Amino acid sequence: MADMTFRDVGKSFGRTEVLRDVNLDVADGEFVVLVGPSGCGKSTLLRMIAGLEPISTGEFRIGGQLMNDVRPRDRDIAMVFQSYALYPHMSVERNMGFPMEIAKAPKAEREGPVRGAAETLGLTKLLDRLPRALSGGQRQRVAMGRAIVRDPVAFLFDEPLSNLDAALRVEMRLEIARLRKRLGTTTVYVTHDQVEAMTMADRIVVMEGGLIQQVGTPMELYDRPANAFVAGFIGSPKMNLLDGTPAEGGLRIGSAVWPAPPGTTTLGIRPEHLSLEPTGLPPLEAELTVIERLGSDTNLFCEVPGIGTVLARVPGNVDLSAGAPLSLSPRPDRLHPFDAQGVRTGG
Ligand SMILES: Nc1ncnc2c1ncn2[C@@H]1O[C@H](COP(=O)(O)OP(=O)(O)OP(=O)(O)O)[C@@H](O)[C@H]1O
Ligand SMILES: [Mg+2]
Repeated sequence: MADMTFRDVGKSFGRTEVLRDVNLDVADGEFVVLVGPSGCGKSTLLRMIAGLEPISTGEFRIGGQLMNDVRPRDRDIAMVFQSYALYPHMSVERNMGFPMEIAKAPKAEREGPVRGAAETLGLTKLLDRLPRALSGGQRQRVAMGRAIVRDPVAFLFDEPLSNLDAALRVEMRLEIARLRKRLGTTTVYVTHDQVEAMTMADRIVVMEGGLIQQVGTPMELYDRPANAFVAGFIGSPKMNLLDGTPAEGGLRIGSAVWPAPPGTTTLGIRPEHLSLEPTGLPPLEAELTVIERLGSDTNLFCEVPGIGTVLARVPGNVDLSAGAPLSLSPRPDRLHPFDAQGVRTGG
């Protein structure tokens, strides 16, 4: 079993605390995605799982076994980095078999797993090439192949696709999804890409400033962010977070009063949940300032007096131009209320 548990795990570099109170359970076979702003401690957490970085406080277990003092090579975990870290003078075949070579497996024993991984990743015809004669996507596949060959108890990925162009990223994302279905290996995956996080994760862990902010399925985080940070972080384009003033019946935002539990100071509404049609709640009166036509959708950047910029996203194309007055109505079941500390107050 390769379930992982973190109990009150913390990490300091000298006097600088970079992770604290990490409490997390990853189930056997689960695919967990870590997201958060740069410097929040994602790579550090991965490195602690791999054993490349000592754990300062707390307990980390794999399959119930305490790992704090277990050496990296005895943890049986494969890590794939953003920089593919291939050996430039070794062929694809040797790069992929290298972990087994280090483990002193004879060549005959290495061949099967390497061929199998190459087959899975579409690298069979490239086995004799050197890394410099490969495209970025092919190099990334070799790095993944090297991880698979070991048949590890868990995979760790640190932004593995961020060096690829958009089309290749989509391709590799599907590749990883297929692999994952086939292998069913416990995986912790770090990314900055919203789409990767939303589509690949069983659960997403949102981190900020060394703390876990929320853990949940992609839809739990999208539908019910626990605080304003998660609300703003999950979802693209970002949720509008509108500060209001208490009023009879809820919170006053610009020209409208929207329902809100007591203590609410901010209402969040995602761009896709603002409508140009009436929704039953009073609309925000706004002026269209910038229009972005994406084909499938249109982004309407609006100016709301006393509030600032509000983004609405409507399906298809709309016949509007900058300067037009707009009435933006929120879907009533899609308002997210937060207090002055950013904590969700209900809904
Ligand atoms: N060896 C180290 N010594 C001191 N501080 C470090 C060390 N490694 C990382 N840090 C600090 O720990 C914090 C977390 O770094 P980490 O690399 O885990 O962030 P990250 O979430 O992976 O960021 P990014 O998205 O930019 O990769 C940062 O503030 C970083 O400066
Ligand atoms: Mg990092």
